[in-house]
Amino acid sequence: MKTVELVAIITSLSGAFLFSNATNTDQPQSEVAPKAVQTPATPDDFEPIDNMHHFMEYVCEPSYKGLKQVLANEPADRKAWKAFKNHALVLAESSALVAARGPDDAAKNKEWKAISAEVYRSGKSLYKSAGDYAEAKKHYGTMLDACNRCHTVFAKGKYQLSK
Ligand code: HEC
Repeated sequence: MKTVELVAIITSLSGAFLFSNATNTDQPQSEVAPKAVQTPATPDDFEPIDNMHHFMEYVCEPSYKGLKQVLANEPADRKAWKAFKNHALVLAESSALVAARGPDDAAKNKEWKAISAEVYRSGKSLYKSAGDYAEAKKHYGTMLDACNRCHTVFAKGKYQLSK
């Protein structure tokens, strides 16, 4: 049986929309949905959606709390390590966004970026330590030190996060 026929049968059985393009072989390309008009994106298209307080509150804080909970005891199974990876990756990747949103003052901006890079590096090691509790605890500690360093310098010492 040909692949096309097989796909057609599977599609008719499941009624899945997912396969609808694959079975459209007898229609000329031009009759398929018109191409969306794409406007080239510039850095301005990725302006911060909200202020740093809300970024911290809604992006960083839930993952910090989740990590703290998942690392309170050695993660027992794959599901627990998946939760770990979820939170670790959110914090590691979001540090790049934090880095790009520092203060205007050049010297302060430089320090802001340097601390963000510490979160990035330790967050990356944290993410990669999934499955190894001792390593994960170590990198978690290093990362939180970096989070707190920024809070010391840029949030008047508020928000000292416990490990
Ligand atoms: C480069 C600087 C910087 C880094 C790095 C940073 N933060 Fe923050 N964070 C801030 C600033 C500034 C505030 C205070 C924002 C305000 O209230 O204006 C803050 C506030 C917070 C708050 C308090 C939010 C609230 O609603 O009360 C939490 C929680 C937080 N950060 C978590 C983290 C975590 C977790 C990390 C590390 C993974 C981190 N931050 C790394 C700058 C940083």
